Amino acid sequence: MKSFDTNGAFADNYKFLIGSILPRPIAVVSTVNESGTNNVAPFSFFTAVSASPMIVAFCPMIRSSTGTIKDTPRNIFREKEFVINIASEGIIEKINMTSTELPYGEDEFVLSGLTPIDSEKIKAKRIKECLIHFECIYRDHLSYGDKPGAGMIITGEVVKVHIAEEILEDHRIITKKLKPVGRGVGNDYFRCDDTFELSRLMKAQIQK
Ligand SMILES: Cc1cc2nc3c(=O)[nH]c(=O)nc-3n(C[C@H](O)[C@H](O)[C@H](O)COP(=O)(O)O)c2cc1C
Repeated sequence: MKSFDTNGAFADNYKFLIGSILPRPIAVVSTVNESGTNNVAPFSFFTAVSASPMIVAFCPMIRSSTGTIKDTPRNIFREKEFVINIASEGIIEKINMTSTELPYGEDEFVLSGLTPIDSEKIKAKRIKECLIHFECIYRDHLSYGDKPGAGMIITGEVVKVHIAEEILEDHRIITKKLKPVGRGVGNDYFRCDDTFELSRLMKAQIQK
């Protein structure tokens, strides 16, 4: 096996991290800039944390090109709110465009052609084309340094969920209708149209 210590270059750690932990779901996070304009960016270091209260987390790193904090956490720390929009296949190219490093204050809705719509409980806009929206209130964060590539984890309490009727059957989300995409290593993405079922063994079954 190839083995390595993790105290070397950021890029080495990063490429093995994203090649090992995959496919990763993609949160498209919308926030409000200081001037009131919108900001949108995708984050694949993203997970569920708690069902009740409903908490989600994502992880922006210090920008490797400039060593500065990204616009998304900058906005969240000031406004204390954000929307997580779930990425899906039909709009992944537009979502990819929102990852462009625009100067602070410029609106990635405009660049990508995605459509902003009002949220119900917070000021940050939702993305109309996304099939699931979580309106989130900032809960807390942990930072792991201020060097390029250093990460932080930001958690948010989901105070309102919006799900497109077209992906629901009997109050359940149908994966084949949502068509989520996952991020892989480099520029790879995953489609999620090859699923299989596996039941969990319960204690009673094991003891038989
Ligand atoms: C699909 C995808 C997933 C990404 N995931 C992350 C991530 O988890 N963490 C991160 O720091 N950057 C991630 N990026 C890069 C950011 O989206 C990019 O740095 C963006 O410019 C940040 O925008 P902001 O400054 O408006 O917050 C990802 C990019 C893409 C295309």
